[in-house]
Amino acid sequence: MGHLLPYLVHLFLFASNVYGSNICTSRGVTTCQECLVVHPSCAWCSDEVFGIGRSSLSRCDLKENLVKEGCSAAAIEFPTSTLDIQQNNPLSDKASSTAVVTQIRPQKLRLALRIGDTKRFTVAVKQVEDYPVDLYYLMDLSYSMKDDLLKLQTLGNKLAETMGKTTSKLHMGFGAFVDKTTYPYMITYPKEAIKNPCIGINDQCQAQFSFKNVLSLTEKVSRFTEEVQKQKVSRNRDGPEGGFEAIMQAMVCKDKIGWRPDASHLLVLTTDAKSHLALDGRIAGIVQPNDGECHLDDDNYFNKSTVLDYPSLGLITDKLSENNINLIFAVTSNVVPLYQEYSQLIPGTTVGTLSVDSGNVIQLITDAYEKIRSKVALELLGVPEELDLSFSASCLNGEVIRGLSSCSGLKIGDTVSFTVDAQLRSCPKEKSRTFTIKPLGFKDSLEVTVDFACGCDCEAKAVPNSPVCSNGNGTYECGVCQCHQGRLGSLCECSQEEYHPADDANCLPNSNSSICNGRGDCLCGQCSCHSDGSGQIWGKYCECDDFNCLHFKGALCSDHGKCNCGFCQCDAGWKGDNCNCTTRTDTCVSSSGLLCSGRGNCECGVCQCTQPGAFGDTCDRCPTCPDACTIKKQCVECQHFKRGQYISDNSCNRICKNEIQIVDQLSQKMDGNVEFQQHTAVNCSYKDENDCIVRFQYYEDKTGKSILYVVKEPECPEGPDILVVLLAVAGAILLLGLVGLLIWKLLVTIHDRKEYAKFEEERSKAKWDTGNNPLYKGATSTFTNIAYRGN
Ligand SMILES: *[C@@H]1O[C@H](CO)[C@@H](O)[C@H](O)[C@H]1NC(C)=O
Ligand SMILES: *[C@@H]1O[C@H](CO)[C@@H](O)[C@H](O)[C@H]1NC(C)=O
Ligand SMILES: *[C@@H]1O[C@H](CO)[C@@H](O)[C@H](O)[C@H]1NC(C)=O
Ligand SMILES: *[C@@H]1O[C@H](CO)[C@@H](O)[C@H](O)[C@H]1NC(C)=O
Ligand SMILES: *[C@@H]1O[C@H](CO)[C@@H](O)[C@H](O)[C@H]1NC(C)=O
Repeated sequence: MGHLLPYLVHLFLFASNVYGSNICTSRGVTTCQECLVVHPSCAWCSDEVFGIGRSSLSRCDLKENLVKEGCSAAAIEFPTSTLDIQQNNPLSDKASSTAVVTQIRPQKLRLALRIGDTKRFTVAVKQVEDYPVDLYYLMDLSYSMKDDLLKLQTLGNKLAETMGKTTSKLHMGFGAFVDKTTYPYMITYPKEAIKNPCIGINDQCQAQFSFKNVLSLTEKVSRFTEEVQKQKVSRNRDGPEGGFEAIMQAMVCKDKIGWRPDASHLLVLTTDAKSHLALDGRIAGIVQPNDGECHLDDDNYFNKSTVLDYPSLGLITDKLSENNINLIFAVTSNVVPLYQEYSQLIPGTTVGTLSVDSGNVIQLITDAYEKIRSKVALELLGVPEELDLSFSASCLNGEVIRGLSSCSGLKIGDTVSFTVDAQLRSCPKEKSRTFTIKPLGFKDSLEVTVDFACGCDCEAKAVPNSPVCSNGNGTYECGVCQCHQGRLGSLCECSQEEYHPADDANCLPNSNSSICNGRGDCLCGQCSCHSDGSGQIWGKYCECDDFNCLHFKGALCSDHGKCNCGFCQCDAGWKGDNCNCTTRTDTCVSSSGLLCSGRGNCECGVCQCTQPGAFGDTCDRCPTCPDACTIKKQCVECQHFKRGQYISDNSCNRICKNEIQIVDQLSQKMDGNVEFQQHTAVNCSYKDENDCIVRFQYYEDKTGKSILYVVKEPECPEGPDILVVLLAVAGAILLLGLVGLLIWKLLVTIHDRKEYAKFEEERSKAKWDTGNNPLYKGATSTFTNIAYRGN
């Protein structure tokens, strides 16, 4: 510990120095290949004359710096990552017999990747309409399936008819199985039992067999019923049957079974018992593992059942994927849990519960087919381990879900797309590899060829024992000398034997520290850094390394960056001192499309809710927020009443993830629930389209549980009573009339009173004055003669 402190101090001093330069120059790499590994932005100059007389110049630098420093364009090694789509036929709308049906796009692409670099491409997948279907019915014919066989004999036509509705290009086939024809699986005593194993129970059955292809896939679906009607059950000794062995043959005998390359392949296994698995053959002394090959003889019987062991689940998984087969386990309820577990282990399988007499088999198959067709899941075949692939699915309604490579709930004709980020983590030995991405159960696939852009072209021109490197003391490669053991210097000019202690001064960072910081030897006046077990050490004084950086959860630079001389250089998409903070924000987008529902900030890809009372991954939960009632109202409308905006744009299931409980009236009692106490409920009400008041109560808790208690009966305004209305109208008319009359009467009275008052007033004024009778006129008249003129 004692020597560590000064070391750290120096580290800090030098590191800040290094930080000013760029990631390419700071690593002190000495070869072209090393340079390309540092960072996708680094280029190498292999020009012989580059940097003569300027020893500080680094051949590994950003491309533009190299050009600036005079490196000739031809000498710059700078492979770049590229993406080239080589085949990109459009997706088909409908299956047709004439044209090639395309269900994935693109079909072929080529990637060139530098280490640390990421390329993104998008894959679109579409389930075309009327796609051909091959349905192979594989039936357990052990004795307990007797009633099932009888039922299937009556159901055959109906099955063909029902499946015919989903596709016009249906082929059907039939196969049967019992178990290996040897002791202890077989009844061998008495001798007659070999021919008729039911002799012990006084019945007639056919001899035991392992697997038999009764009817190869054919478009004459009526033959299905004919052949099934000819079948008889058999009988075997032990409980489990040889179903998996039969599945294997049905899958791999492509020609004999007649699987069409351009069709959905449905393999239905009906049984009421367990199945033997790999290694079960040992009790009969069968030790040779199943070879996954077809072994049907001329009579269509599997004739290696006594030689090969049962297949393993792994082998079945491989062959299912190889032959694009969708396996449907139609099994009786007693073994459903068992086959469900198998189904978990074998991708692309479905389990359905068969009724005791197989009466529901048609429904079961159509349901399973629907389920198969409603899901698109990508599978990867042969991906090189140096390549990291990460997926994002964009299923319906455009929502992007990170880390998902499947979509469900689709309808025929829907197109979904997946974004794939391919990143090269390290360089494999070979130059390129091809792998396949394909939707499970589809024939269509995308072929991706990756060229690993790891090498430098100049390496091919390397000169061993070159005269440039001190008369053959090194290999001249990409503009630099790679010195032989024991030689040092940029031109291998110094040998370890010619060691001068005086040179040591060049290896001291300052007077207080030790030579080469104690992490290297001073040779010919240069530090030759030790390679530490934990990583690389470099720098003029061995002051830098790539392991002393901040850790997070035990991972250097959180595994999202490179440690460069004490500092994390984060990969694209990450930031922070220890690169533990993602720069993406799509994880913060709530289902309503707002960042943190508008109630907080997205920090390092996680919502920090700022609104009091808000919680949840995207702050979407907030019963006490003012707008809670408004938001949840739409959910009540769509989840309970099946109407409203979310129903019309089909987003109900996506946005509303509440449990709905119908109550007679809202009550306080739920508040007693300890879980809910932190986040009390809110009472909400709104007026619906019929003007009724819907009341509901909205609870949410931290565990993500959210319940809407909706009052059963909305409160609607009461309809008016006819009699009351009539009476009211009549009353109103009467009242109005009366009021009218009263007013008229009042007006008349007032008028009369006024007139009378006026009259009285006039009368009181009439004091007759004779001298001044207003009616009197004097009796004299005066006339003027208008013709008279003076004098
Ligand atoms: C199984 O059938 C194939 C094809 O008819 C035949 O070549 C082979 O010999 C048979 N194997 C056994 C063990 O009967
Ligand atoms: C290495 O260099 C020394 C001194 O320059 C020279 O004498 C010697 O021959 C060289 N070694 C080889 C193997 O060429
Ligand atoms: C060297 O060490 C001495 C004593 O420990 C100290 O006083 C001095 O400042 C140091 N010098 C440098 C350059 O770190
Ligand atoms: C990142 O690391 C720092 C320091 O260890 C820590 O405080 C912070 O919570 C981390 N952030 C995330 C998103 O994990
Ligand atoms: C909601 O309404 C019920 C019934 O009226 C009442 O008991 C309860 O206290 C109310 N809750 C809140 C949070 O207001």
